[in-house]
Amino acid sequence: MAYQHGELKIFSGSANPRLAEAIGRHLGTHLGACQVTRFSNGEVRIMIEENIRGCDIFVVQPMGHPVNESLVELLVLVDAFRRSSAQRITAVVPYYAYGRQDRKARGREPISAKLVANLLVTSGADRILTMDLHSPQIQGFFDIPVDHLRAVRLIAEYMKTKDLSDAIVVAPDAGSGHRARQLADMLHLPIGFVDKRRPEPGVSEVMNVIGDVRGKTAVIIEDMIDTGGTLIEASKALLAHGTKAIIPSCTHPVLSGPGLERMVEGPFEEVIVTDSIPLPPDLPPKIKVLSIAPLLGDAIWRIHQDLSVSELF
Ligand code: R5P
Repeated sequence: MAYQHGELKIFSGSANPRLAEAIGRHLGTHLGACQVTRFSNGEVRIMIEENIRGCDIFVVQPMGHPVNESLVELLVLVDAFRRSSAQRITAVVPYYAYGRQDRKARGREPISAKLVANLLVTSGADRILTMDLHSPQIQGFFDIPVDHLRAVRLIAEYMKTKDLSDAIVVAPDAGSGHRARQLADMLHLPIGFVDKRRPEPGVSEVMNVIGDVRGKTAVIIEDMIDTGGTLIEASKALLAHGTKAIIPSCTHPVLSGPGLERMVEGPFEEVIVTDSIPLPPDLPPKIKVLSIAPLLGDAIWRIHQDLSVSELF
């Protein structure tokens, strides 16, 4: 068979090898052989252990914890593939870190989301495959194609297994409104909003709850749960307004600092997340992990075959 973009090969960095292996299984292929280690001073050392000349390379490396290590590893990996004469390199970055720094919210701040995009392009990436960017405009920070997948359908299908007869989808802040609307449409549910303010990074304050939440189950959808502050503050406000139960969900379980503990101890029977970022193996059963591997695998296959990716949304 002739390959327009070269032979398909999938490689993994060290950020989420389990996800990369699951993508490989979905596509019925083994991961490419590559050593990702460190020099004694901590610098990233990459050694690609097979010929990839003329190949269509997909390198799976979400920017999970430790975020700066994951980012630099990704840049060095892409550089290694570029210098090894890959025909095309797609950076598969289901979780794109630094996405919250996508504008100058105050004077003298960086726009780190743009800087990371510049670094990825400079390293030699030809395309980006990502999922639930903090803000969709980040696609425009790249002058190369970006395929932007959403986990909302996967989350909606799982939510349908629950009793949603008196449920309402709630957006925990203004930025989640569009995503919450999509979920509400898929589940045929009404929508409510929490009016959140962030007085400083990592601290959230709820000002108001908009919508009829009394006596209802609130289904919350977020791009990410990081420290869990947004979710906990939104939940307190919803419970104070008479909500009877809360089912939170997100694509990216960043869960830094007190994040995991807050989810475990918070007023939720279950917290629904995806495997875009690896989670500890001894995870409490109330954290339900849905796999995005089939969706990423299908997208990789479609990109490789020059088929439409938007059909997957
Ligand atoms: C906010 O703009 C995002 O959509 C998330 O709500 C936020 O980043 C989550 O962070 P945390 O869990 O630390 O409140």
